[in-house]
Amino acid sequence: MTQRTLSIIKPDATQRNLQGAILKMIQDAGLKIVAMKMITLTRNQAEGFYAVHKERPFFDSLTQFMCSGPVVVSVLEGENAITRYREVMGATNPANADEGTIRKAFALDIEKNSVHGSDAPDTAATEIAYFFNQLEITG
Ligand code: RTP
Ligand code: MG
Repeated sequence: MTQRTLSIIKPDATQRNLQGAILKMIQDAGLKIVAMKMITLTRNQAEGFYAVHKERPFFDSLTQFMCSGPVVVSVLEGENAITRYREVMGATNPANADEGTIRKAFALDIEKNSVHGSDAPDTAATEIAYFFNQLEITG
């Protein structure tokens, strides 16, 4: 089943100039980039994006981190893209991430973990629409 998922390269990674290395791992995994932009989120935009985590103890720290520098937001397309990309990312906590994953290679800690990927078809649709309109997605 061809799916689309939302990817974010987080500020800890853009700060270390890792955009190219991470996009290469994404493309090498067979995922196709069908939309992409680099932006700096406002606090409000970061809070809106992570609204599902509002009650979590890490919400303030997470949303502050997510607007601390530029992010690269992209839409990835491919066979089972949602699960596939989460496999490529690795576990949320890099201490638990498998060899060969983006987080194993680059994440600094459980918060500054370099990438985001949608976790289900409904959240993927909502997250893609949060950042892109139809005209900005190719194919
Ligand atoms: P993401 O949404 O960013 O793809 O990551 P995820 O599904 O693997 O993790 P999730 O549970 O959705 O958490 C979202 C992001 O919040 C930060 N986090 N900090 N300090 C903590 O215990 C903690 N737990 C999560 C991470 O940046 C995580 O990716
Ligand atoms: Mg998540």
